[in-house]
Amino acid sequence: MEKSNYLGRSFLTLKDYSPAEIIELVNLAETLRKKKKTGMPVKGCEGKNIALIFEKTSTRTRCSFEIAAADLGMHTVYLDPSASQMGKKESLKDTARVLGRMFDGIEYRGYGQKIVEDLAKYAGVPVWNGLTNEYHPTQMLADLLTIRDNFHYIKGVNLTYFGDARYNTGNSLMIMCSKMGLNFCVCAPKKYWPNEKLIEECQGYAKASGAKLRFTEDVAEGAKGADVIYTDIWVSMGEPAEIWAERIRDLYPYRVTMDTIKAASVDVIFMHCLPSFHNLNTGIGRAIYEKFGIEEMEVSDEVFESRYSRVFEEAENRMHTIKAVMYATLTGKSV
Ligand code: CP
Ligand code: NVA
Repeated sequence: MEKSNYLGRSFLTLKDYSPAEIIELVNLAETLRKKKKTGMPVKGCEGKNIALIFEKTSTRTRCSFEIAAADLGMHTVYLDPSASQMGKKESLKDTARVLGRMFDGIEYRGYGQKIVEDLAKYAGVPVWNGLTNEYHPTQMLADLLTIRDNFHYIKGVNLTYFGDARYNTGNSLMIMCSKMGLNFCVCAPKKYWPNEKLIEECQGYAKASGAKLRFTEDVAEGAKGADVIYTDIWVSMGEPAEIWAERIRDLYPYRVTMDTIKAASVDVIFMHCLPSFHNLNTGIGRAIYEKFGIEEMEVSDEVFESRYSRVFEEAENRMHTIKAVMYATLTGKSV
């Protein structure tokens, strides 16, 4: 098979990568994971400089970029929302051109997809999307690796997403599944289904891969036959706090509990991009409990802590897959 050329490319959405390229990145991540665990160094990126722009908070994504960069011998500069001039005293276009002269690659986490697209357009170096309102592509590589680690195949795996599927994680899962041949089901009230235009695009990918896309409001139907049950928080970063009441009312019936797990396939696994509100050990979790009286939200603590849960393997795989994206786009190599 002809090798893909990743050199100098940005990673903004999985739409820009072919299924063969996506799987090659997952393979690379697996190789890099093996090397890390056996203490083998990876050459090719030493001395490069990476900018990490975070306009929204992060634990996994930031740490993954920082650790992956350090493992590859690169330096990072972290820019938080208050620390740079971007968008306030300096236009995005100007900031992109400045950073592009200093850095070999730029990670961006923030709001609209257009921002990360423009950053890539003007910076002239690879830009990696660390989450926008619309997409979360690096999460998808980690999810794909986690699914493959578990089942040893990906085509034909049935993945059901419970919750708000119109946002970054839901949208990206639909793209990932439809491109890679996993059957994708959204289980949520209709107003939380991805937009028609994206569904149509994904139907096109599904035609080529053999994936099936389903949308249902019925919990039993969504759970039936699911090999992977996936959910995400009900109110995403950047959304107003006032929306909680409506989300709880709409999505509470779609929370993942042991009943959902029991209704799924016998070998089902539970996945979540994290962070998660599965108990009262968070500030927001407690505030919601005081206001609405619910102790768990999108997933029950029982499921989260159960043998079905793969959430920490998934979180670890963020680092290996992010390392793969940086390595491939900065060196052009994929093995
Ligand atoms: N899943 C994920 O992106 O986690 P962080 O928000 O902690 O980066
Ligand atoms: N949908 C969530 C994902 C967090 C990783 C958010 O945007 O906050």
